Amino acid sequence: MAKSDIYHQLVIQCASHEYPIYIGNQLLTDVELLRRHVIANQVLIVTNNTIAPLYLAAIKQAFAGMQCDEVVLPDGEQHKNQHSLSVIYDALIQSRHHRDTTLIALGGGVIGDITGFAAATYQRGVRFIQLPTTLLAQVDASVGGKTAINHQTGKNMIGSFHQPQAVIMDLNALSTLPQREFRAGLGEVIKYGLLVGGEFLNTLDELLSDERFTFSSPALADLIARCCQIKAGFVEEDEKETGRRALLNLGHTFAHALEAYTHYQRWLHGEAVAIGLYCATLLSWQMGYIESTTLALVDSLLNKAKLPSRIPKDIDLIHLQALMFNDKKISNKMLRVVLIRRPGDCYLESGVPEESLRQVLMNAVEGE
Ligand SMILES: NC(=O)c1ccc[n+]([C@@H]2O[C@H](COP(=O)([O-])OP(=O)(O)OC[C@H]3O[C@@H](n4cnc5c(N)ncnc54)[C@H](O)[C@@H]3O)[C@@H](O)[C@H]2O)c1
Ligand SMILES: [Zn+2]
Repeated sequence: MAKSDIYHQLVIQCASHEYPIYIGNQLLTDVELLRRHVIANQVLIVTNNTIAPLYLAAIKQAFAGMQCDEVVLPDGEQHKNQHSLSVIYDALIQSRHHRDTTLIALGGGVIGDITGFAAATYQRGVRFIQLPTTLLAQVDASVGGKTAINHQTGKNMIGSFHQPQAVIMDLNALSTLPQREFRAGLGEVIKYGLLVGGEFLNTLDELLSDERFTFSSPALADLIARCCQIKAGFVEEDEKETGRRALLNLGHTFAHALEAYTHYQRWLHGEAVAIGLYCATLLSWQMGYIESTTLALVDSLLNKAKLPSRIPKDIDLIHLQALMFNDKKISNKMLRVVLIRRPGDCYLESGVPEESLRQVLMNAVEGE
């Protein structure tokens, strides 16, 4: 078995709890590391039927000799729901998991979010470990302690904040990830680039300009670590999203509406975020905050990452706009959108006029 290599070890320091993030190679086969944050003699691994054949056996092997149960859910965002949650609770109760058990989320953001919420609520909260296997989950979903399931009326409508004991990111897991999923993760990476600007944005531009940039690029470990640090910076300051953490929603008011409009079928989350980033930048430009060069930069980054950036022609903009007003990040019926003053300087605008929004949606349509 290949030896594991930890390239980065970060510590997330929230008011409620402190925990490590490990980034490296072959970490999913590192028995000592996997067991390090388990305190009792029982674990429940939650994964899905795409990931199970690839990685479940290795994880189970690490917990040989203790009670190791598993729940293999069907794959897909549509299963991030109450039914999947009940399946997890049933397994925990039937197999008599105690308060000191550890849930292990093996998969992308969907598995991480459901498992985290199950851990947050089972017996008023038990431990869990994130083993994120998508780029999106590594740079975003597994960090910060937001957990949730969807309700038929909206995404992530039921959830809570619950920080994991540890996040273990194995870069090798990305080798089996479809290219499209990898690129979707880059949507969130570009979001971080706009949030912090500076050197990170330049490095990102260089990496994306290189045709050979892929999951096995040596620069990827540093890129992921930097993204985790950026997200950690926002989370540590504002764990429960009462202020600055909301900036992480850059592009997301648009993305959530696009996802809801298409019933989560048409775009991957990171792809919808990519279109959302373009819309948010266009709105910032339209409101006179940024130069057209920044708009061109965002367009070019999304292009280099081979991500969509425009709203397809068949989308009914009136319906889309109505969905934006349904987003739960609305207070006092005013639309709140994260806007860009310049890369590295974003802020939450709480009074976007309906007319400006309408204009932006029209101008973001493909071919316009
Ligand atoms: N909690 C948060 O802060 C947060 C932040 C961002 C996104 N999210 C949530 O994350 C979800 C999106 O996450 P995602 O993009 O990881 O999607 P996902 O979990 O659906 O994974 C994408 C696809 O890749 C497959 N897969 C995962 N790892 C693989 C691997 N190593 N090899 C082959 N296939 C693999 C999955 O089975 C799935 O089909 C959304 O539900 C979103 O709401 C949460
Ligand atoms: Zn996102």
